[in-house]
This record gives sequence, C-alpha cells and structure tokens, in this order.
Amino acid sequence: MPKLCCFVCLITILFQLTNLASSKRQQVPTPPLPLSPLPSFSQLKWQQRELIMFLHFGVNTFTDSEWGTGNENPEIFNPLGLDANQWVNTAAEAGVSLMILTAKHHDGFCLWPSKFTEHSVTHSPWKHGRGDVVQELVNAAKARGVDVGLYLSPWDRHDPRYGHDLQYNEYYLAQLQELLTRYGDVREIWFDGAKGSNAPNMSYYFTDWFAMVKELQSSINIFSDAGPDVRWVGNEKGFAGSTCWSTINRTSLSIGNGSIVDYLSTGDAKGTDWLPAECDVSIRKGWFWHKSETPKKLSELLEIYYNSVGRNCVMLLNVPPNTTGLISETDVQRLREFGTAIDTIFSKNLAENCFVKASSQRAGKGGGFGPENVLDDDHLRTYWAPRDGDGISDDHWIEIRAADEGLRFNVIRIQEAIGLGQRIKRHEIFVDGKLVAEGTTVGHKKLHRLENGVIDGHVVRIKIKESRAVPLISSIGLHFDPYWHPNRQSLT
Ligand SMILES: *[C@@H]1O[C@H](CO)[C@@H](O)[C@H](O)[C@H]1NC(C)=O
Ligand SMILES: *[C@@H]1O[C@H](CO)[C@@H](O)[C@H](O)[C@H]1NC(C)=O
Ligand SMILES: *[C@@H]1O[C@H](CO)[C@@H](O)[C@H](O)[C@H]1NC(C)=O
Ligand SMILES: *[C@@H]1O[C@H](CO)[C@@H](O)[C@H](O)[C@H]1NC(C)=O
Repeated sequence: MPKLCCFVCLITILFQLTNLASSKRQQVPTPPLPLSPLPSFSQLKWQQRELIMFLHFGVNTFTDSEWGTGNENPEIFNPLGLDANQWVNTAAEAGVSLMILTAKHHDGFCLWPSKFTEHSVTHSPWKHGRGDVVQELVNAAKARGVDVGLYLSPWDRHDPRYGHDLQYNEYYLAQLQELLTRYGDVREIWFDGAKGSNAPNMSYYFTDWFAMVKELQSSINIFSDAGPDVRWVGNEKGFAGSTCWSTINRTSLSIGNGSIVDYLSTGDAKGTDWLPAECDVSIRKGWFWHKSETPKKLSELLEIYYNSVGRNCVMLLNVPPNTTGLISETDVQRLREFGTAIDTIFSKNLAENCFVKASSQRAGKGGGFGPENVLDDDHLRTYWAPRDGDGISDDHWIEIRAADEGLRFNVIRIQEAIGLGQRIKRHEIFVDGKLVAEGTTVGHKKLHRLENGVIDGHVVRIKIKESRAVPLISSIGLHFDPYWHPNRQSLT
C-alpha cells in the first residue's frame, strides 16, 4: 500500500512537471532582438510611400529658366488656370501619397503671402494678389488624403539680407515658422546646399533651423544631404547605389559637400544613424516647365523606379506645372502610364499560391515566424525568421516551390522587416538550381529585374550569404514585367 501511494505520488509529480514544461512550451515565442540603428515611426511611414512627387513652380516657369536671378518682376507670375486639384489628382492616380512644393526657389519669390517680404504672390496679378499657392495645394491634397511637403531654398538671390549671417538666418527662420504653422501637417521639408559659385559667402544656422522644424511639426521628416531624417542619394538621376544601406554615419556628412556623393549613394553597413536615401529626378530634363521639353519615356521612368524603389530608396519624381498652372497633358499621360505599369507588374504575386520552406525557423512550426509569412500582405510586421544562435555566417535559405505548371516571371522582389534593422549584406537567387541573380543589400525593397529576361521554373531559392544578424524577410514576390525586354531595350 505505501509503495502504491509512493508510486501515485511519483506519477502526480511527473504529471505536474510535464504540465509545467508544456505550459512553458505554450508561451508565445517573442520576436528577435532588433539590430540598431532603427527607423523612427515617421521614417518608416516615409519609406512605405515609395513614390513621392516634387512640384517645381514659380517665376522660372514664366521666364523659361532653371535658376532665376532674383530680379524677376512679380508681375510675370500669372498662372490663370491654376488648379491644384489637377496636380493632386494626377499624383494620386499614379499612387503618390506625398507632394512637395517649391514654396521658394533660389530666386527668392514666395508662392505664399509671406509677411516678411514683398517678393511674393501678393505682388503678382494672379488672383489680384490675394492668391496663395501653398494653400491651394494643401486644400486640394487634403480633399484627396494626400500629404504635403515643402521646399524653402536656403540660397536666396533676391533678398538683400542674404550674405549677412544674422539677418538672413532670422529671415529664413521667420519664413519657416510661417510655413510650418499656417498650413497644418507638413510631412517633409527639403533643405539643400545648392548655390551659385559667385554667391555671397554666408553660413546657414542649420542646427537652429532643424530644431525649429521639429518644434513646429511632430511627424515631419527633414531632408538634406546630411539628414537628419532623410538623406540625398548623391545624384539627380534618381539612381541609388546597387548596394544601399539606410544606415550611415551622420558625422561624416555635411550639406553641399561634393566629396561625399559616393558615400551617400551606398550608405554604410557600419553606420550609426538610420538615414535612408531619397532619389530626386525630374520627369523632364529640367526641374521647371519649359515649352521645348517633353517627358521621359515610360521605359526610362521604369528604369529609375527599379534603381531607386528597387534599391531600398524612395523615388522623388518632379512634375512641373506649366504657365497655365496645370500639369501638361503629355506629363499627365506619362504618369498615368507609369502608374498603370507599376500596378500591372506588382499587383499580382505569382508566388501567391506556392509552397514555401526554409532552412530553419525561429521557435519551430506554428511559432509565428515561418516562411509562409513572406507571402502574406504584411510587408513589415510579419516575417520569416531563421532559428538564431546559428551564427551569422550560416547559410540561410528560403524556397518557393510552384504547385504544378511552374512559374513564368522576370522580376524577383525581396523585402526585409526593416522595423528590426537592416541586416542582409549579400544574397543569391537560384531557379531550379541555376544562379539567376545576386546582390548585396535588400532593405525595405530589392527588385531584381532579370538580365536574361523571362524565366520558366519550378523552384526559386533565395540564399542569404552574409548578414549583420539573422536575416528577417517580410515579403517575397515573383512578378511578370511585360515592359521589360532586355534584348530589345533600345527599341522600347
Ligand atoms: C567664406 O567664409 C569663411 C569663414 O566665414 C572663410 O573661411 C572662407 O574663406 C570664405 N570664402 C570666401 C570665398 O570668401
Ligand atoms: C566634406 O566631407 C569630407 C568627408 O567627410 C570631409 O573630410 C570634409 O571636411 C568635408 N568638407 C566640407 C567643406 O565640409
Ligand atoms: C561609421 O561609424 C562606425 C562606428 O563608429 C565605424 O565602425 C565605421 O568605420 C564608420 N564608417 C566610416 C566610413 O567611417
Ligand atoms: C498646360 O497644361 C494644360 C493641361 O494639360 C493645357 O491645357 C495647357 O494648354 C498647358 N499650357 C501651356 C502653356 O502649355
């Protein structure tokens, strides 16, 4: 009897122990540790926009020039048919969610009625001097749920205070305060170091400017050669480096410094700051509208898209309104084609119904980090994570396997869960065992447009060859781009 009792006791204890162990097993597995530096909330939101629009508009539009002298008579500014709804509709139809206007360009003419200068719309015949282009854009954008950003040129060729450090910096800060308090939320502000070689010598109080911007707007991103939120990519062609880190050392950057353009375009795997790159480019040759210019071909715009959005950047496409105050029909048409092309290529993921498996997965099957996460609609918060502790040099892979008929595609899309840091340093892609593409960084989005054109295959394997920590892949897509004809490129 005591023996039996003991036995029952033992069983009970064992049972409780197993219970304890299994309740431990039932704890929901946690995400892996992030790898710093990390994006801020506003930087992440900005990155997900992918395509944003610039509007260069002002006295240059009426003088057929790119850089005004500052001596333009405000009387020349008279865009009789100005309709910001047309700008916003054009943008929204192409998938643009943020539009940045040149509130003031180098010529110093202000598109809003600034009380600190006479050189503005107030002294133009447009709307009898009662117009405000910034307000028109803000109203139109709000009606369609599009966000607004502003450019306020530091170089000012009109204002006599330019060249006098204290007076000009006060003037500039006064205008920043007007722009960032009168018009509601402003999502991006653009600063640059552009300046003529014979311009007066002066210093800009960037530290004060940036602090003022952050004081007045909570969700804004500040763009400049050196950030602090978004960096210039280092050229005006719209191309990022084929390696492109969102991380860089801010201390190595300065505004208007020509010697850092290569560093800007690739970023820095060891960078201590999250400072992703924006690729600015114009739909035409110039930034302002010129009667003699025409928009770029669709194939050129797609080339830029693959080399900017497809290289972990945001594409900032300039579309200049004409002297009527409207976006020219040719440009409207081209943007419509561009938007349609992006939809055609990317709205269907050919991998959608495929099987997917991986070298390993964090927390095992059902743990929430399986490879199936790369085929869902969430491209940020759900992801495949390999088991960690494997060491960062391990060969991690993920594989997409077609059901029966096989797959026919010419574009491969890979996205990292960048909310936990940018990690992948080198990767290779095999189709049915054959290497078809290789690359370095991935980041928010890497697009491989296959050099050899369309591929028919069954098994697509992505190998992560090198990574700063375990790779976290949030999305993979196989796409068909009907506009991509690598062998006939000159004809398109
Ligand atoms: C501009 O000013 C800085 C210091 O304020 C000086 O070092 C530099 O030589 C000046 N450049 C010219 C072109 O005057
Ligand atoms: C330009 O950047 C380089 C590299 O960071 C730096 O050595 C140099 O001093 C910078 N020049 C200016 C004018 O800021
Ligand atoms: C950036 O900073 C990190 C950390 O201090 C350093 O290891 C790296 O070498 C720096 N990169 C450059 C290009 O100086
Ligand atoms: C500006 O674009 C609009 C809309 O496409 C067009 O009707 C107008 O004629 C254009 N103005 C000029 C000066 O080309």
